[in-house]
Amino acid sequence: MKLLLKFGAILLAVLLFSVGGLYGWARQAVAERLSRTHEAHRIDVPVPMPLTEAELAALRQERSAPASEGAEVSADAAPTDPLAGLDLAAIALERAQARGKHLVEARYACVECHGKNLAGGVMVDDPAMGQLLGPNLTAGEGSRTKGFTFADWDRIVRHGLKKDGTAALMPSEDFVEMSDRELSDIIAHLQTFPAVDNVVPPSTLGPLGTVLAALGKLPLSVEFIKDHQAAHAAEPPEEAESVEFGGHLVQICRGCHGVSLAGGPIPVGPPDWPPAANLTPHESGLASWSFEDFDRVMREGKRKDGQPMKDPMTLVVPYAVKMKPVEMKAIWTYLRSLKPLPVGGQ
Ligand code: HEC
Ligand code: HEC
Repeated sequence: MKLLLKFGAILLAVLLFSVGGLYGWARQAVAERLSRTHEAHRIDVPVPMPLTEAELAALRQERSAPASEGAEVSADAAPTDPLAGLDLAAIALERAQARGKHLVEARYACVECHGKNLAGGVMVDDPAMGQLLGPNLTAGEGSRTKGFTFADWDRIVRHGLKKDGTAALMPSEDFVEMSDRELSDIIAHLQTFPAVDNVVPPSTLGPLGTVLAALGKLPLSVEFIKDHQAAHAAEPPEEAESVEFGGHLVQICRGCHGVSLAGGPIPVGPPDWPPAANLTPHESGLASWSFEDFDRVMREGKRKDGQPMKDPMTLVVPYAVKMKPVEMKAIWTYLRSLKPLPVGGQ
């Protein structure tokens, strides 16, 4: 997702800052904030998560079903554990990788900034804003995740902290609601990417980025996230067409459609981005929509009025296409449960 800006007011601020000789102050203030270290809990969760009791029970049942109708069962054969001979660790890993793949392809867009091959990518590359680069997350040369423990992954993804404890310029606030299981599954999937050598230079802020950060208009995730000691949910809500599961999924829509999902101008976007649509059941929002309208718009990338969808919503479509029907239904169920609000309402 590109982090750019509303130019008018901001250019003015840059001008005032340079005229007033305050730019030096801004640089220093930001450098100080970026070199400060922060505390967050250090938790340990296995990667992959072991099979649950329910999964084991299902496997046992599958394996003890008679091989074929009428097969002779010898009365004196010793009862054997139906799970004997199964590599449970390998099954757990395979399932975790599959779940993680789905999460990364349908919801959590790590590759958008870290590259399709995960070896490095671009979040923002603009002379004024700066170069915010997604580092190499594979095991090749230039890897920023070599030797990462679960705690290190937790700290960058859900707390906005780099391994050395300083603030990362990564929008981790989008991921704070991720459960332990989801993060563990994502790590299991990311670890399947082949090692690629690529040394990504450290991110730097340009003059505009520096002034915005100094003015607090480019908040650091670590400062945004209030409680760095609180436990995360261990499990995501059950996959169902429910308000609860839908509420978990729409976290990824709030960065653009707002906390209330009533839409309006996207806070940190370039001037040519249209306002995000109102997703509440208000007449200025989705009041007249059916689930079929919603599903089609999300998957076909065409607006309900037939016009082509504009950026940056177009970025969401390749992810929405990968959503399971139950996920799309749950999002819809959640959106229908919202209080109707006018555009931008809270
Ligand atoms: C919107 C862009 C964006 C997305 C999406 C994103 N990242 Fe990042 N990530 C970055 C940037 C930029 C940095 C470099 C931050 C810095 O140097 O301050 C980074 C840094 C990292 C690091 C290195 C931390 C360190 O200690 O140096 C890891 C690991 C990481 N991201 C993992 C992830 C994972 C996992 C996901 C998906 C769940 C993800 N990122 C999604 C932009 C992104
Ligand atoms: C990167 C920012 C961004 C994210 C993330 C995002 N949207 Fe959007 N969305 C927009 C913008 C901007 C528009 C207006 C596009 C236009 O006018 O063509 C929009 C429009 C829409 C529309 C209305 C389309 C129409 O026909 O008018 C729907 C529905 C929608 N988004 C749903 C979602 C849902 C659900 C999510 C989360 C899964 C989501 N969006 C995530 C930016 C975003």
